Amino acid sequence: MCGIIGYTGSDPAVPILLDGLKKLEYRGYDSAGIAVQTADGLHMVKATGKVEKLAEKLEQATDMEGICGIGHTRWATHGSPSDVNAHPHMSADGRFAIVHNGIIENYLEIKTELEEKGIVFASETDTEVIVQLLAYYYEGDVRKSLMRTIRRLEGSYALAVLCADEPGTVFAARMSSPLIIGVGAGENFFASDITALIRHTKDVIDLDDGETAEIRTDSVRIFDPYGNPVSREPRHILWDIAAAEKGGYDHFMMKEIMEQPQALQATLEPRIKDGRIVLDSVDLDMKQFDRIMITACGSAYHAGCVGRLVLETLCRLPVETELASEFRYRDLVLNERTLVIVVSQSGETADTIAALRKAKEDGAATLAIVNVVGSTIAKIADHVIYTWAGPEIAVATTKGYVTQLAVLDLFAVWAADQLGRLDHKTYSQLVKGLKALPAKAQRALDLSARVGRLAKLYHDRKSLFFIGRNLDHAVAMEGSLKLKEISYLHSEAYAAGELKHGTIALIEPGRLVVALCCCERLYEKTASNIQQVKARGATVLAVAPESNHQIYGEADHVLRVPGVHPLFFPVVEIIPLQLLAYWVARENGCDIDKPKNLAKSVTVE
Ligand code: G6P
Repeated sequence: MCGIIGYTGSDPAVPILLDGLKKLEYRGYDSAGIAVQTADGLHMVKATGKVEKLAEKLEQATDMEGICGIGHTRWATHGSPSDVNAHPHMSADGRFAIVHNGIIENYLEIKTELEEKGIVFASETDTEVIVQLLAYYYEGDVRKSLMRTIRRLEGSYALAVLCADEPGTVFAARMSSPLIIGVGAGENFFASDITALIRHTKDVIDLDDGETAEIRTDSVRIFDPYGNPVSREPRHILWDIAAAEKGGYDHFMMKEIMEQPQALQATLEPRIKDGRIVLDSVDLDMKQFDRIMITACGSAYHAGCVGRLVLETLCRLPVETELASEFRYRDLVLNERTLVIVVSQSGETADTIAALRKAKEDGAATLAIVNVVGSTIAKIADHVIYTWAGPEIAVATTKGYVTQLAVLDLFAVWAADQLGRLDHKTYSQLVKGLKALPAKAQRALDLSARVGRLAKLYHDRKSLFFIGRNLDHAVAMEGSLKLKEISYLHSEAYAAGELKHGTIALIEPGRLVVALCCCERLYEKTASNIQQVKARGATVLAVAPESNHQIYGEADHVLRVPGVHPLFFPVVEIIPLQLLAYWVARENGCDIDKPKNLAKSVTVE
């Protein structure tokens, strides 16, 4: 949601900014814009719609030749997606231009105050109050004016500021919204995330909440909330540029589905040493907890639902899940005996951040499972375990989700061992099971062509059901979400045993039901649900382990996944469902990597 890019150096800024905006498109947006400093002041071009439209407009522009500039992709929150509401926003006097990611909660109060002083606003956005305040407070020192301005703001912001009086300098500020500075040679950059910078530099400096920065061609200066200089060395990013490119695939989503074995390997291997699970970053005594809560959004929540079942089976502790968007509105009973686990690919999801803060306020210990190093959630949580999925560009997560499963599984085994719940043999079997997952995932990917053929048969169904029990149900929720997200087909996930309490009324001849049958101990139960829906005319597509031959007598189509440890089936079972969503969306001509109305990183509540 919203992306920021900035550049100061000696090359023309517009092509660099446009390229950065293209890399940020995956975050989700509905308009875009660029502002540059030129010899005769600040100029900007904005366009509703895709970055290509902005590029077309820029080709016509004659006053955009600058070597320092800022760019933005906007996902509308305050005011419709329109040219005037798109960022950058300029102060009424034309001295300042800004781009902003986040939400200013007290903008109406500031707007009223400034309007009373005669300042005329051009847009309906919350952002415009920032730029008008900057101009209002300005007395020749941009940093002072920026500090005064941000002191007035309530809410979240990643902010980049150009001032016509300060050639070659971009000012930045951050509060609860991501912003990183890319350090180059004779040029510097900043962006909402690494994918936009990686082509130029792998050395980045994170800006922390409350800090401001002055970025020039040859220097980066950072200041704490009181204006004192902060010294911070860049960290080196390990991601390869190829990781942020499609690499011959038609879509990032397919590339990322295919990368899952490597992502699992990268996540699991360093944590398994001599047959033991080693979690260096976690310094927790599991005996101090009497309860675990897992909270997250979207697919990360679904990973948490799998994690809940694995943790409670292995640790014998009560484990609860709650959507992060609901977490802070419950009267939860949390204390130092509760371990709250937050799961997030981006580490920037606003609801998950709020849930994490609430857990900390209430005295719970917090553990984050995050993919993006240095993200807000990684910074706030007491303990972090990174998923090493690499950059994920497609809006619908795939490798992010399976690596979250892998970390939850690793953690569950580690915690159960700490609690003394596992005998030597069981522990070894679990570790062996974890180690086998990358190769098993690789085999599950062989289903792609077959799923592609099934998608041709079923892509025009209006509504589908996913059913399963226990772990199969948790995976059904993710399979259903994947399909909804990218193919726009209606689908619902049901605990198979619940069918008879209502949903079965919707089963009619031709309805496609995807039945997940990897929970072997419950197979007979799910098989009877399959019979019930078949008796009412449904077509059943089953996902089952290779060892299950009975299923051929029940289902119309069977997708067979390689056998794994019973607790780890979700890792391989989700793969055919990701492929189904992909191939159905492709058959239906959908924009697979950037589904309508969705954003990769949801930074607003
Ligand atoms: C968005 C994405 C989903 C993701 C969810 C949570 O809705 O489209 O793919 O699961 O946010 O994101 P997070 O970064 O916290 O895992």
